[in-house]
Amino acid sequence: MNQTLKGKDYISTQDWSNEEIELALDTASDLKIKFKNGDSHRYLADKTIFLFFFDKSTRTRNSFEAGITQLGGHAHFIDASTSQIAHGESPKDMGIILSSYGHGLAVRHDLVPGEGNTYMREIAKHANKPVINMQCDVDHPCQTLADLMTIRETFGNDLRGKKIAISWAYAPSYAKPMSVPQGLIMLMTRFGMDVTLAHPPEYTLMEDTLNIAKKNAEQSSTKFEIVNSMDAAFEDADIVYPKSWGIESLFHVPEQALEISKKYQHWICDDKLMGLTKKDSIYMHCLPADRGYEVTDDVIDGPHSVIYQEAENRLHTAKALMALTM
Ligand code: CP
Repeated sequence: MNQTLKGKDYISTQDWSNEEIELALDTASDLKIKFKNGDSHRYLADKTIFLFFFDKSTRTRNSFEAGITQLGGHAHFIDASTSQIAHGESPKDMGIILSSYGHGLAVRHDLVPGEGNTYMREIAKHANKPVINMQCDVDHPCQTLADLMTIRETFGNDLRGKKIAISWAYAPSYAKPMSVPQGLIMLMTRFGMDVTLAHPPEYTLMEDTLNIAKKNAEQSSTKFEIVNSMDAAFEDADIVYPKSWGIESLFHVPEQALEISKKYQHWICDDKLMGLTKKDSIYMHCLPADRGYEVTDDVIDGPHSVIYQEAENRLHTAKALMALTM
């Protein structure tokens, strides 16, 4: 295994150079082939990663747990609500103590704007082992790495001129974190794609992430634009990624946010919208999706959808991140 990223934290894709992201993608593709062929790849024999969860998860938890097992190591699942974190134990103490017990730490802390990224950077400051962001308030770099892998598997590595439409969509289930669209606009502008973001006026993303996306687009000679309708975003798109997210100032009063979102129930990805996209376009979603609200069954189960390939790539990319950094 390549040793150049050993010990490096992965808290935002912005913290890694394009070459480092390329190495992670190449490693994930190699691990995917080995997994499919049944070839042994125990690069982390006897190593331990500690997984801290402040929120629920299906894909992230299981891709890390299955992934570390396949790499020959072991994961400890830590539920923040049933550990001493719930009594106020500090990120500094958690970082120092648990990094002395193992070889890597990973954290999901995504539901409170202003908290999660700060919390995991505080752990990283004191831990002497790598820290991986399993989703915070700002970024979901494990998801977006798997998304980039999926897009490249579909269209090849040269994505120049491809249009990705990242759109808000209505979901009644809960106020979903803002970190997936924010992570997407920051990463995809660096890798050749022209990025169009669409949302109703209340659903603006964090200013810092918008500024980073603009800067990345300038530096990479790609485009970044914001429009106010799904139709405008989907027009001639190669990749569509419609999903819901919450209102930054209202995460502490979910009932108010839900009331506002009801005005936008027509923001649903359906066959009519997909008809505006390129013929060979792909439909993506990080999951879980609110079927019948964010997207119709016809689209999510239809020929454009790559959701299961995208979800599978969470395993291969999680393994690459652990194998390279731990
Ligand atoms: N996409 C994603 O992060 O899924 P989970 O919330 O199930 O981990």
